[in-house]
Amino acid sequence: MCGIVGILGRSAVAPLLVDALKRLEYRGYDSAGVATLEHGHIERRRAEGKLRNLELKLSDAPLMGAIGIGHTRWATHGRPNETNAHPHATDKLAVVHNGIIENFRPLREELQAKGVVFETETDTEVVAQLVTEEIVQGRSPVDALAATLPRLRGAFALVFLFDGEENLLIGARHGAPLAIGYGDGEMYFGSDALALAPFTDEISYLEDGDWAVLSRSGATIRDAQGGLAERPRQTVPVGSVIASKGNYRHFMAKEIYEQPEVVGRTLAHYVDFGRCAVRLPELPFSFADVSRLSISACGTAYYAGLVAKYWFERLARLPVEIDVASEFRYREAPLEPGQAALFVSQSGETADTLASLRYAKAHGQHTLSILNVPTSTMGRESAVVAPTLAGPEIGVASTKAFTCQLSVLLALAIGAARQRETLSQAEEQRLVEALVAVPSLMTEAFRTEAEIETISRELSKAKDVLYLGRGTSFPLALEGALKLKEISYIHAEGYAAGELKHGPIALIDETMPVIVIAPHDAVFEKTVSNMQEVAARGGRILLITDERGAAEAAMDTMATVIMPDCDPVVAPLIFAVPAQLLAYHTAVFMGKDVDQPRNLAKSVTVE
Ligand code: G6P
Repeated sequence: MCGIVGILGRSAVAPLLVDALKRLEYRGYDSAGVATLEHGHIERRRAEGKLRNLELKLSDAPLMGAIGIGHTRWATHGRPNETNAHPHATDKLAVVHNGIIENFRPLREELQAKGVVFETETDTEVVAQLVTEEIVQGRSPVDALAATLPRLRGAFALVFLFDGEENLLIGARHGAPLAIGYGDGEMYFGSDALALAPFTDEISYLEDGDWAVLSRSGATIRDAQGGLAERPRQTVPVGSVIASKGNYRHFMAKEIYEQPEVVGRTLAHYVDFGRCAVRLPELPFSFADVSRLSISACGTAYYAGLVAKYWFERLARLPVEIDVASEFRYREAPLEPGQAALFVSQSGETADTLASLRYAKAHGQHTLSILNVPTSTMGRESAVVAPTLAGPEIGVASTKAFTCQLSVLLALAIGAARQRETLSQAEEQRLVEALVAVPSLMTEAFRTEAEIETISRELSKAKDVLYLGRGTSFPLALEGALKLKEISYIHAEGYAAGELKHGPIALIDETMPVIVIAPHDAVFEKTVSNMQEVAARGGRILLITDERGAAEAAMDTMATVIMPDCDPVVAPLIFAVPAQLLAYHTAVFMGKDVDQPRNLAKSVTVE
């Protein structure tokens, strides 16, 4: 992944580069760096770890150049230390890179055979050296790029700064996003419009294979064949103020607490409150005419898709196949043209999900994407975008995007059911009423927080935690376990409660907490039986249920968290709240970096 930015400015750009990098930190925070031209020559400042380390370096040794590039890294090739931090530089150029150069090994060997000495473990340095070779042989920077880019394989975005060239930046896009920003006598490159938001909202997105030469007076864009290309300039209004934590200690807490509001806002987009009916986005197909829906996504978005499988199959009687996108993209699934393929992504930039979308398009599927960033690459390439209105999600562990995705998915499943005539008007009304009640039920669910905070102290002592659920609570168990491991680094597994006896039951002893997510629904009794199996083996149970569930289970537990009563169909939205709070408080109690957990990034644009 990584975030990249380039600025051709009118005065010192280093503070602007750092400002842009703050907006790009969601793409990685292993190291950060900037390079500018100081009296015509490349100068760099780089630092391991979070951006604040780079800021300290810059305050000790400021850079004054009016042209520069910047980078925030999520390490792929090479440890996350200062040596491997971008920009990488030679005496001719500096480069920042997002993505992977897949053929860097043969290229590196070729250069080493010519006597080039490498300083870093990165794939990026190969690019710096290749272009430098061309320049040394007398080529201009533009010709050097034209000669080098066709030699690179992989998915990448690059921005170059050249020694002695005060009015030139060159950027290239091949499988990783890159946008151009147009200012007043200033020009910009950025991984996304958000990075450039304080400077300009006039954006054009490069297409795959494009490379662009920027000067302060504009951009010349070429396509992969070398022909001049026009890419539309559009106004992309993204808030230029970096979201603030308000009175919260962490973005994650703020985002958990925003859920009633953003879910309400999202629902207002998909629900006709007057008719108590779902409002589907304009679709170029009818769910009545498809016999299969395939869903692909990654991480938390995948678990949202997994919940939706239950909804689409039960309500709309529509068979659903769901995959993690990294598998779907390569497993050569046979897809009958004219079927529907659905993609779920907060960022709209996740490399595997994007590749799955392209695969589905190439196989004649109607593509529909649920995205929190509709201007993203997936947004531009999907036939239909169904937006989630969660607003920017800053915490790396997804919370409000997840429940907004669930809201849209349930609305779509209800709409699909109407089109397929598997739901009466009265049933649709009942379901819509249940959906509309979600924001206030979420608010009620926050009342469990004090109790959950107490339980989290207990949980923080565990080495392993098991999450169990049935039906739609099964994907929620997976999501609960993911949240806990992401931010507390405690090993956690989510399991289908009924599958417990086929293996994980062997793990149960008095040291391993077992968290059971069990609203009182049609499969509740079955889950209670599985809890009995845990209790019989000395396991310590944390039961998350409702009044009826607690009364019916009547079990001795380590703790029982009572959730508000809700229609079982919307339970995943409500029960997500305690799962999130449990992970959050455990991680806070353990003193972990909740918003930027180690090794992770918010948007994953590499395979
Ligand atoms: C990363 C994030 C997860 C997210 C996943 C998919 O792994 O850390 O929180 O669920 O990517 O991201 P997307 O933007 O496609 O929803």
